Amino acid sequence: MPPIDLRSDTLTAPCKTMRTRMATAEVGDDYYREDPTVRELEDYTAELLGKEAALFVLSGTMGNLLSIRAQVPPGSAALVSSSSHLHLNETGHLASICGITSHPVPTPAGKYLMTDLEKNWPVPTGSQRGSVLNPRLKLIAIENTHNGEGGRCLDLAYLDKLGRFARERALTFHMDGARLFNAAVSLGVEASALAAPLDSISFCLSKGLGAPGGAMIVGDRDFIEEARHWRQMVGGGMRQAGVLAAAGLFALEQNIDRLGEDHVIARRLAEGLLSLGLTVDLSAVETNIVMAYLPSHLPSPATFHQLLTDENVLVLPPKGNRFRFVIHKDLSADDVDLALTRMGTITNYDRRFR
Ligand SMILES: Cc1ncc(COP(=O)(O)O)c(C=O)c1O
Repeated sequence: MPPIDLRSDTLTAPCKTMRTRMATAEVGDDYYREDPTVRELEDYTAELLGKEAALFVLSGTMGNLLSIRAQVPPGSAALVSSSSHLHLNETGHLASICGITSHPVPTPAGKYLMTDLEKNWPVPTGSQRGSVLNPRLKLIAIENTHNGEGGRCLDLAYLDKLGRFARERALTFHMDGARLFNAAVSLGVEASALAAPLDSISFCLSKGLGAPGGAMIVGDRDFIEEARHWRQMVGGGMRQAGVLAAAGLFALEQNIDRLGEDHVIARRLAEGLLSLGLTVDLSAVETNIVMAYLPSHLPSPATFHQLLTDENVLVLPPKGNRFRFVIHKDLSADDVDLALTRMGTITNYDRRFR
């Protein structure tokens, strides 16, 4: 019984054509900016997102770290989503490497409530003199799509509003867009439109886009040059990186539009989970991530997780009674149907043992 692995879209494997493109990539030494494929990827990315420049980095985590370290001085403060990857899952680089105090703020459905931001303004901004005691707030970060909130999209109107809020307070506005193209496809807008209000964006070439690694950061030329310096500082400079950049180029050229297929399959999975008795808010399924809650009449979350594993349906351990299921290009509608059939044997568990 082959496993059906719904743990993450980080599991995508490079397809044969991507591998061929990698194998035949023209390369040079990127320390000297002489790798033509890396340069092509950076130019292509800057144009795609409508920004002056882009930098190829090793990972989404490195993209966030460099974006923030290059723009915000140590000793500052940052507003971050309390359920964001940046806050919870990046080893604390904001504190340890960037020297920044985080102010985590809840983001139901992925969004800060403007009332939370306006009324409970935590610390003085860069341009506003407050108590000498407080770190100065210099950055606001968002995540689009928001992974921890179920792949929710931040739309243009919201981004514009938050962009204005940031500009009026002289805050740097950064987007962790690890899954930015999922948002663009789901919202039916260009990624460049979603990027427009931001000073910096980091997005992943791995995950749904299917490259074996790598991420990009984009913004204005000075910022990217500063980030290049910090990339070197943290040991992220590469030599003949064109081999990996070729995968990124292929991912951006070939794998953006098809993300919509993942979203359709995710909805199919969400509807299936609902019919098996799990609690799912279908209106919250906007991209490739499905959050499902285990009702109390089913086995405990830990038991349910073990039973899923026994049935070879792989998901990460639950948070409370919440399970996350993630769809990507290497999972088909048939895989999802099979997973649902296997899960059906578990959701009947309580009937079997009553
Ligand atoms: C929202 C988000 N941001 C950043 C990252 C980090 O990406 P990487 O694994 O490439 O460091 C992830 C990884 O899953 C993510 O989900």
